[in-house]
Amino acid sequence: MSYAALSGKKIILGITGSIAAYKAAALTRLLVREGAVVKVIMTPSATNFISPLTLSTLSRHEVQTQVMEEGSWNNHVALGLWADCMLIAPLTANTLSSMAAGACDNLLLAVYLSARCPVFVAPAMDEDMWHHPSTNRNLSRISADGVKIIPVGHGELASGLTGEGRMAEPEDITAFLQQFFAEGQSLKGKKVLITAGPTYEPLDPVRFIGNRSSGKMGLSLAEAAMARGAAVTVVLGPVHLPETKSGPEVIRVGTAVEMFHAVEAHFGEADIIIFAAAVADYRPEMPAEQKIKRKGDELMVRLVPNPDIAAQMGQRKNYRQLTIGFALETENELQHARDKMAKKNLDMIVLNSLRDPGAGFESDTNKITIIPAGNKAEEYQLKSKSAVAEDIWNSILQHFGDRL
Ligand code: C5P
Repeated sequence: MSYAALSGKKIILGITGSIAAYKAAALTRLLVREGAVVKVIMTPSATNFISPLTLSTLSRHEVQTQVMEEGSWNNHVALGLWADCMLIAPLTANTLSSMAAGACDNLLLAVYLSARCPVFVAPAMDEDMWHHPSTNRNLSRISADGVKIIPVGHGELASGLTGEGRMAEPEDITAFLQQFFAEGQSLKGKKVLITAGPTYEPLDPVRFIGNRSSGKMGLSLAEAAMARGAAVTVVLGPVHLPETKSGPEVIRVGTAVEMFHAVEAHFGEADIIIFAAAVADYRPEMPAEQKIKRKGDELMVRLVPNPDIAAQMGQRKNYRQLTIGFALETENELQHARDKMAKKNLDMIVLNSLRDPGAGFESDTNKITIIPAGNKAEEYQLKSKSAVAEDIWNSILQHFGDRL
């Protein structure tokens, strides 16, 4: 980890009204010691738990609490734009629910809504509040909005009970931010090319042979690579493209042959190429020009093989380029995946087994095993596709970082 990762970083520290607010003093001191420029915003109720004077002294900046203060207006938009990141620690259940709902009745919430930078939260609440379904719902919602949630700790709580819900310690919060900013540089200057989604092979003007790939895994990989500083191009089959914050360059294609040509055109300049598309192996040799009419009992369609994009690029790659593929297997998974890696000259293959519930095509989660060429397989737990994407990038950098 780079310990200079926070040097010069502009951080808005938002403090809400929880007992854990006393830890915000130590947190401010740590962030400042790491070289960060910290401006503190408090919700009005946070000032009942810790004095703004303590925090303004430690942060060396005036603390702000209200949109209107002594006849002047605090410019929340400017504050949101100034920051490299916003950290809300502690985050109460109340502010969490306001964030999830998009409410805006104090300065902290107004800055949150205006911020274009990454936002981190360190929740702090009693165990029952932490496990309440509404807390879970609100956390899922802000997480889907892109907020990064720093895991809570286990231990003594303000209620006197012991359990889950303690705010992470200031050292852990600082380490979390350091890791994020260090990772933010890990693919800087690199060009990444990703295939994603299905291909549709026309039978006639209205029908096609396709598959259920959602493109989510490839798009999650693209988003994670952008967050690490890479320039990313996605060659995307016919799926709905969700709004992403970072927005990679997207080249839309329909068929495997179109995907092949688009990959060919961008392959030469790419450092890392990930084949996450579910490409149809065959296509109808002669798609009908008009809609096929029902006649007789049988319809014979002659299929011809599509180009194997990963295999062909595997032949063309130079010694610096990394190619990574996926394998979806139903039996003897590890062996089949290794064979595929060799046949396509891949540097790494990511295996998802159809035997694992929640893994694969249409779900938002995936359970993978990563096999780097010449190394032993690494098995991972069932996770969201964006968390899986982080694991894949971490593994790529760990095994091949020195080649990049
Ligand atoms: O051979 P199989 O389809 O199982 O291989 C899967 C891997 O190869 C995936 O990474 C997929 O994106 C890639 N592939 C490809 N072109 C094809 C078929 C598969 O790039 N025609």
